[in-house]
Amino acid sequence: MTRPGSPRVSAFALPLAIVAAVTFAACGGGDAPASDAAAGSDASASAAPVAAVSFDPASITDADLALGDSIFHGLIGATSCQSCHGVKGENGSAAPSLADTAWLHTDGSFEGIYKQIAAGVMQPKQFSGVMPPYGGAPLDPQKHRAVAAYVYKLSHK
Ligand code: HEC
Repeated sequence: MTRPGSPRVSAFALPLAIVAAVTFAACGGGDAPASDAAAGSDASASAAPVAAVSFDPASITDADLALGDSIFHGLIGATSCQSCHGVKGENGSAAPSLADTAWLHTDGSFEGIYKQIAAGVMQPKQFSGVMPPYGGAPLDPQKHRAVAAYVYKLSHK
């Protein structure tokens, strides 16, 4: 019997029809399909930072800084950097300034700051308290990078 073959064909045909319909809808008028296709590739662009963390300062976006700002000030996540480092990261009562160019532990690079946040500081050099990893509560890679970008920009304006 050839019956098993037929359902298989239609099972493939249906999703293809849906993809075609969605593609038409997404392209709208369809006057310039080539440039629409190029613009459509931003799906891969927005996925890139997640796939591979970039420490090129030029890759820091306003959205990264806005997210980092919220994390630093304890509005997102379960910890607050400002509670130790101060509201602007420059006058902390329990932790050093992050807004100058003097560094105790990191080299002050974007990547160095990123790694320092994950490691925390178990052996403080000037203050009596320690910094737990991530300041106390783990951050996912996107938030981790965003708060590192925010801290990087405090001293690289
Ligand atoms: C519980 C207090 C506390 C919290 C919360 C905290 N830190 Fe720290 N942080 C410290 C201390 C203490 C040090 C090291 C001080 C010393 O060496 O004397 C430090 C050091 C650092 C350094 C290295 C500074 C240098 O000079 O090399 C960075 C970067 C940093 N913290 C970022 C952050 C970020 C970002 C957060 C929030 C995610 C955060 N910290 C939350 C206490 C804290």
